Amino acid sequence: MRTPIIAGNWKMHKTLAEAVQLAHEIREATADINGVEIVLCPPFTALGAVEGVIAASKVGLGAQNMYWEEQGAFTGEISPLMLDGLCDYVILGHSERRQFFGETDEGVNKKIKAALSHHLIPIVCVGENLAQNEAGETAAFVGGQVKAAFAGLSAEDAIKVIVAYEPIWAIGTGKNADPATANSIIGLSIRGAIAEMYNEDVAQQVRIQYGGSVKPDNVEAYMSQPDIDGALVGGASLKTESFVALVKGALVKVR
Ligand code: PGA
Repeated sequence: MRTPIIAGNWKMHKTLAEAVQLAHEIREATADINGVEIVLCPPFTALGAVEGVIAASKVGLGAQNMYWEEQGAFTGEISPLMLDGLCDYVILGHSERRQFFGETDEGVNKKIKAALSHHLIPIVCVGENLAQNEAGETAAFVGGQVKAAFAGLSAEDAIKVIVAYEPIWAIGTGKNADPATANSIIGLSIRGAIAEMYNEDVAQQVRIQYGGSVKPDNVEAYMSQPDIDGALVGGASLKTESFVALVKGALVKVR
């Protein structure tokens, strides 16, 4: 049984005061919801303050990125050592990092290993762009990204990783992927790649989210799919009402 997980990726939004306010509201509004793992990923500037707000609640905390070295002359970067003990999750290889900041499969793999060695659960993003999707290359491309991400991980570490399947053309566009199609990419290409690397048992244990224009009115359609274990959400995670509606939508998995 894979616990459903809804993660809010706040991206480059929210001042310190706004982040504290949103986290506070979400903590209150989700206090009675059980069976769904909830994760907030504020910008680095608000991590410490949000940690204080959600401490001792069921709401978890994640960073949006991280460098793989523990310390050194890497101006502007944040290390796994700095996140260790501050948060529990870290989003790695988001398509915006890959597109705008030149992140590679190799670098993402190093980050995943660094995160795991510092008690952080990586939420690893994969997904094809529109041209690849239209050319019918999705399965091969996404399968390749997964294999590159998991390269060199033990089975014990592999089952800790959360994968987020986020078709780039669906992120922030309102053009969400068809739930059944997303389910089959997740089941066949992503779980399939993990099964090829390890075995079916490992593949069945890894949690895989869908991301890309998930909203309150479509979340249940995704969460009703057997291979989709949760959602990584940008836009709809920025307001208490819509984020809480997403968490409630994930309850279809636990009913
Ligand atoms: P979106 O973003 O929900 O705004 O489409 C998803 C993401 O980038 O994680």
